[in-house]
Amino acid sequence: MIAYAPWADARLSRKPGVLPLDPGDWIEAGDDREAQMAYRAALIEAQRDVVHAALPESAGACAELLEALCAHLGVAVPTGEPPLIAAGRLVQEDFCLLEQATSGEEYRLTGAILCFPSRWSLAEKIGHPLTHIHGPVPDYTGDLAARVNRLFEGIRAGRPLWRANWTIHSTAELHQPSGEWRESEDADADLHIRVERQTFLRLPRSNAVVFGIRTYVDPLTALMPEQAVALREALEPLGPDEIDYRGGADLHRASLDALV
Ligand code: HEM
Repeated sequence: MIAYAPWADARLSRKPGVLPLDPGDWIEAGDDREAQMAYRAALIEAQRDVVHAALPESAGACAELLEALCAHLGVAVPTGEPPLIAAGRLVQEDFCLLEQATSGEEYRLTGAILCFPSRWSLAEKIGHPLTHIHGPVPDYTGDLAARVNRLFEGIRAGRPLWRANWTIHSTAELHQPSGEWRESEDADADLHIRVERQTFLRLPRSNAVVFGIRTYVDPLTALMPEQAVALREALEPLGPDEIDYRGGADLHRASLDALV
């Protein structure tokens, strides 16, 4: 049983595929909580500069996020550590903060606790606007970028949103902090489906948007037969650029073969 199969749900698979979220469901724990929390603590210890970044102008939003998270969980606000580090120790979600310097300008990534990046580097993206962040993504067209920017403008406090994405990886590794992974993808390895449950929440004081990422990784063999069939149907129409972006022709072929 897997938690989400966004490729098999038309509301989620069309882009941007954003739905309203009950504020009570902002944070999602699971059976994988103990293992993920231990891994997060180890990464925060050993790789702090890889998993954490906070530009000076994000200080207000960082503090407000930690307050909102603690209020949501019903726990006291921890002190003594940078707020995003403290947030990263509380829940399985990673958090990116997106802010506008001036109204009307594109949202930029100003801070993050990102223990489980899916093949991207926080250091490369920090400070950049959303369209630039999505530069390598073939299906993030100009039209989608404009829709995402409008969607960000429209996020209201108390009315969060969510979406989900999926990718196939040849490893269950959660921490993949580099864009330079494609050559090393091993199509003979154990194939896994990686799903991100992504949430969008407005912080009213700083006006920042919190982008939450809750990562689920399961072997392809955990899919129900109808989920496997739908995944195959989602992979089949991908064009060469998307196949390349998602790991290359060998991984694509191996995935299709594994889904019969
Ligand atoms: C509705 C909003 C969004 C949409 C529709 C969207 C869409 C996408 C898509 C289609 C991909 C390619 C991988 C995939 O198919 O899942 C992607 C990758 C990515 N997204 Fe988003 N995204 C959104 C919001 C965000 C936000 C708020 C961030 C903030 C950090 C973000 C950061 C990234 C990064 C870093 C990648 C990997 C880029 C790379 O390969 O270098 N996305 N996104």
